[in-house]
Amino acid sequence: MKKIGIIGSGVMGHGIGQLYAQHGSFVTLYDINEEALNHAKSMINDSLSAMVEKSIITEAEKVKTFEFLSFTTDFATAVMDADMVVEVVPEVLELKLKVYHQIEELVSEKTVISSNTSAIPLSELVQGSKHPERFIITHYFAPAQIIPLVEIIQLNGLTDPQLMENVLNFLKLCGKSPIVLKKEVPGFIANRMQMALMREAFWLYENEIASAEDIDTVIKDSLGFRYVFLGPLEGQDIAGIGTTYNVGLKLFPVLDDTKTPHKFLKEMIDKNTVGLRSKKGFYEYTEESAAEKIRTRNDNFLEVFKLRKKQLGK
Ligand SMILES: NC(=O)c1ccc[n+]([C@@H]2O[C@H](COP(=O)([O-])OP(=O)(O)OC[C@H]3O[C@@H](n4cnc5c(N)ncnc54)[C@H](O)[C@@H]3O)[C@@H](O)[C@H]2O)c1
Repeated sequence: MKKIGIIGSGVMGHGIGQLYAQHGSFVTLYDINEEALNHAKSMINDSLSAMVEKSIITEAEKVKTFEFLSFTTDFATAVMDADMVVEVVPEVLELKLKVYHQIEELVSEKTVISSNTSAIPLSELVQGSKHPERFIITHYFAPAQIIPLVEIIQLNGLTDPQLMENVLNFLKLCGKSPIVLKKEVPGFIANRMQMALMREAFWLYENEIASAEDIDTVIKDSLGFRYVFLGPLEGQDIAGIGTTYNVGLKLFPVLDDTKTPHKFLKEMIDKNTVGLRSKKGFYEYTEESAAEKIRTRNDNFLEVFKLRKKQLGK
């Protein structure tokens, strides 16, 4: 993919653009105003600087990455002649459909159009498109330039298999771990598993089984520690399926199976205790400790990124 247009340069768009530029594609980031683009530029600069500090890339590679990046508020400039256009606008179906219509008016039949949607099925995204066979979902995780997984959703019998192959190979060249879903399913895979875990964490918290801090410690110092290197299914092979089955017989009937998000979450929203941005969520923050939380998170992610890169040989 020599030339890539990114539509929407927010939280996810700037990271996806950075990743492709770091791997030698000419990337044009589009957004609706200069302010959004300046913010994206500064986020990319900070992210690349942190990678230089951790010796993940050199200063020269940082400079080179910016040579592969351009920023525009002119839609046509972003998508003209692109081999792939990645849509990363807010999660509103009508907005996404409008953007696809604009893209299809300007690009060749061969251009790949991919979406980073969190939850809208591909079958809804392709409604009204001229060439549905070139649409796919490439679902990244924030920060997109660091977290290796990309979930790919295609439509059996509709999506062009050669295009799929090209995108898969391209993502691997970018150091990613892409996986392809065999069927469409709401939430794809990672968010389904994440929400299953969150449902139980919320139940434990609501029923005062342990403090927020202790619930977080349990995950960070047990499952989280393992899961970087050992997935849940291969982990069961090590533990033995018999044990897992017997534990399941005891635990499945008593696990939380509520069908709506827990009531206390709505109360937190109503009280504006929504986390870092209101300085209170499950924990309390000051301006400094909130900034420190993000700094430490980014720093730790880069350490794991280095380790994972080494393990994957990328
Ligand atoms: N934030 C996450 O962690 C995350 C993770 C995975 C997937 N996603 C998905 O990625 C997509 C983007 O999410 P985000 O978090 O980056 O949102 P965001 O709000 O940070 O960024 C969206 C950007 O799109 C721009 N925009 C708005 N209207 C536009 C238009 N008509 N044309 C072009 N650009 C426009 C905005 O100015 C903004 O810069 C959503 O579909 C979201 O569900 C988000």
